[in-house]
Amino acid sequence: MAPDGQHRPAPNVYDAEPIPEAARAEIERLLSSGDLFRYTAPEGAPVALLEAEFAELMGSRYALAVSSCSAALFLALKALDLPRGARVLVPAFTFAAVPSAVVHADCVPVLVEVGDDFRVDMADFEARFDDTIAAVLISHMRGHTSDMDAIMALAEARGVPVIEDAAHSLGTLWNGRKIGTIGKIGCFSFQSYKLVNAGEGGIMITDDPEIAARAVIMSGAYEHNWKKHPGLQNSFHHWQNRLPLYNTRMQNLSAAVIRPQLAEVARRVRDGRANHDYVAARLNGSPWMAVPPALPQEERAPDSLQFNLKGFARDEEALAFQDAAKARGVSVQVFGLSRDNARAFWNWQFLGDLPDLPKTRAMLMRACDVRLPARLRKPDLDFIADALLAAAEDVKARAA
Ligand SMILES: Cc1ncc(COP(=O)(O)O)c(C=O)c1O
Repeated sequence: MAPDGQHRPAPNVYDAEPIPEAARAEIERLLSSGDLFRYTAPEGAPVALLEAEFAELMGSRYALAVSSCSAALFLALKALDLPRGARVLVPAFTFAAVPSAVVHADCVPVLVEVGDDFRVDMADFEARFDDTIAAVLISHMRGHTSDMDAIMALAEARGVPVIEDAAHSLGTLWNGRKIGTIGKIGCFSFQSYKLVNAGEGGIMITDDPEIAARAVIMSGAYEHNWKKHPGLQNSFHHWQNRLPLYNTRMQNLSAAVIRPQLAEVARRVRDGRANHDYVAARLNGSPWMAVPPALPQEERAPDSLQFNLKGFARDEEALAFQDAAKARGVSVQVFGLSRDNARAFWNWQFLGDLPDLPKTRAMLMRACDVRLPARLRKPDLDFIADALLAAAEDVKARAA
């Protein structure tokens, strides 16, 4: 039953939008020809066309489509040619795949505190940014942009490259600039819960020809397949046979599914932001919840909603809220209270000794995560907001 007493099914927040009809003919052509490998056709392969279209959409010089955003992050680090064991600053609020990509690239993640606005704590960032730091990898986690003006100023002053993990940030603007184009390299995800859905997939963008050439070769452009990437001929000749082939290529079917979705990005961003802001305004009317505002430089492109529980002193109360929302049909996760959550840094035991990060820990223990895809309509949004507001009231009424 809906929170208002009417019988209405809870909105399904996991299903994706249908893939645009325009993908069908191209998929049919690929199925009939069996032409799935990006380097078989002499030119015009769907993956190559996607790279050209994505680069144009972002206004970047080079784009390289790969098997996931994690693969893009890994290649980005490799393309920077960092020494083995290089230390890389990474926000402590991100998905486990991000520090994993750093480890995969033979580097060492140095975790930075994240505040209860879900953004990098700049005082801690500056304090940890010593001479041993060789690169910075900023996850704009759940599409919350950290202060890129301050981050770029500090990194540029030290001559240290910045990679943007823009997995959730396609369509976000910072001072009017597209997120992913501010650092040296930007990486995006096409995994199903992101704005553009290919099941799996990722892409990296850069304006730097050497980085682009190195990443293309390492992604698996073996022998002279790099000739199917525009420009960069001298750089490719230089790096030929001198780099490992990690084979993280994208295949043509994925590109065929992604390409027609690029035309949908602007609409999804608009709808996702309107949905988010509508539910956020309703939750901010409660004494028990707070949705941090966007930073003044930021125009967000959210496809999910994060908020902090206020006045929930005990973990049991926060867990009771999670249960009460679930009972009302809305799945909400308190990041730090759901078992084995891959976004809680203390679960990244593969890193070895984990630092104590009290700010990030405190945030994760009360920060809530709700999916809010752009395709939801007002009754769905009201269902979700009503359920969350009522769940908080349930818990607080019981506690009183
Ligand atoms: C912040 C962030 N970065 C990177 C990734 C990795 O993306 P992919 O699944 O495409 O490897 C994710 C996955 O959800 C993510 O949340």
